[in-house]
Amino acid sequence: MKKINVWDIQTRIFHWSLVIFVLSTVVTADILSFFGIDLVNKDSWLAFHIGTGVAVAILLLFRIFWGFSGPHYSRFSSLHLSLAELFSYIKAVIKNEKTNYTGHNPAASWSALGIITLGLLAALTGVIVFGIDEGRGISRFLYLGFYVYADQLKLLHLALSYLLLGVVIGHVCGVLNETIRHKTGIIPAMFTGTKLSDETDKPIHTATPVRLISYLWIISPLAAILFLPSSLETKQPVKLSIPQIYLKECGSCHMAFPPNLLPAESWKNMMSSLNDHFGDDASINDTAKKEIEVFLVTYAAETSHEEASIKLLRSIKNENPPARITEIPYWKEKHKPINLEIYQRSSIKSRINCVACHKLAEYGSFEDNDIRIPKKI
Ligand code: HEC
Ligand code: HEC
Repeated sequence: MKKINVWDIQTRIFHWSLVIFVLSTVVTADILSFFGIDLVNKDSWLAFHIGTGVAVAILLLFRIFWGFSGPHYSRFSSLHLSLAELFSYIKAVIKNEKTNYTGHNPAASWSALGIITLGLLAALTGVIVFGIDEGRGISRFLYLGFYVYADQLKLLHLALSYLLLGVVIGHVCGVLNETIRHKTGIIPAMFTGTKLSDETDKPIHTATPVRLISYLWIISPLAAILFLPSSLETKQPVKLSIPQIYLKECGSCHMAFPPNLLPAESWKNMMSSLNDHFGDDASINDTAKKEIEVFLVTYAAETSHEEASIKLLRSIKNENPPARITEIPYWKEKHKPINLEIYQRSSIKSRINCVACHKLAEYGSFEDNDIRIPKKI
């Protein structure tokens, strides 16, 4: 046996970046939620999760490219994919017999294919969920038409990610088996690139353009992680023009609520019973009433692309249109963590003073980045 070159530098960078990026993606998404830390619902961490997820996809696409154009041991043609070989490998593992593979053994070959396929599918569903659920990223055009599938897609994304994690864990067990029982030195080989083998050294001959592309490709995930989150900053709300008459008549006792927080039916009901408006008499003359109702109905929740509108509407379970924004399940769910005393602060006064905590509430936008709870008691 002699030392030969097995893993080229690109494959090694690929391997360890993939470890780092897959772990960061899964940890920020779901693992921490077991400890009560929910990062995915925070916009900045969600951007991080998307960034590392995209990096995983870029790396896996690189691996496919490299599987066709890299040196011998990195090529798909050098994988051992026959089922007979896989079974005899598993038999050898059970009998604790040492096997003799220089590149990927049958189990590692199947793990590699599994990781590439599941990883790419997880990334793809992730990008789709990001578009459908958040209205962001390259698939945001799906936001309106497909939001009813958001929950199923999220589940699919989660299932694929856990399957991926399962294959990774299986792969790590295989590596530990080789390392502890047979001392084959495959972990150091992934750092140094060399291994003891009976095979003859295969020349690493890739053409210069291919080599150049491979280097650029393999370092691009780092660039993605640096630049992507900032390009995913919260989208700016479309500032609708609010009629003066609405501000005057409906903004005197409380803030003039943006129309996209209630369905059209709710606004119609409210406008037809202003004389008994939550115990107050808020009646106004007919012309003003008509103008305001047209405004409210035209921009009601059903017509809005804002995340808040879509999620409020989705959470309304019964047939009856809600009388208040604050009785809608999504609103209640989101504000559950807020103590009642907080609403009593003089800088807030009431839970219906949305604009005290949501900077852009007037325009119907409630993005995480714009939430500040005023401190003053
Ligand atoms: C005379 C004062 C007054 C006027 C004028 C008034 N409101 Fe109200 N409004 C109230 C009160 C009081 C409540 C209940 C507040 C509470 O529960 O804290 C309320 C509640 C609401 C709510 C429900 C908020 C929630 O809890 O989700 C909406 C929506 C609303 N008003 C819309 C309007 C519209 C639209 C107009 C104009 C046509 C209007 N209001 C004019 C006093 C007024
Ligand atoms: C005391 C401050 C406060 C007031 C008043 C308040 N909110 Fe909020 N709101 C918050 C906080 C904090 C969150 C974020 C909760 C979380 O961590 O998910 C939130 C979350 C939301 C969200 C979800 C945003 C998202 O994408 O996660 C919506 C929609 C929302 N509020 C609407 C309203 C409306 C409408 C009103 C007025 C009727 C209102 N809020 C009043 C503090 C407030």
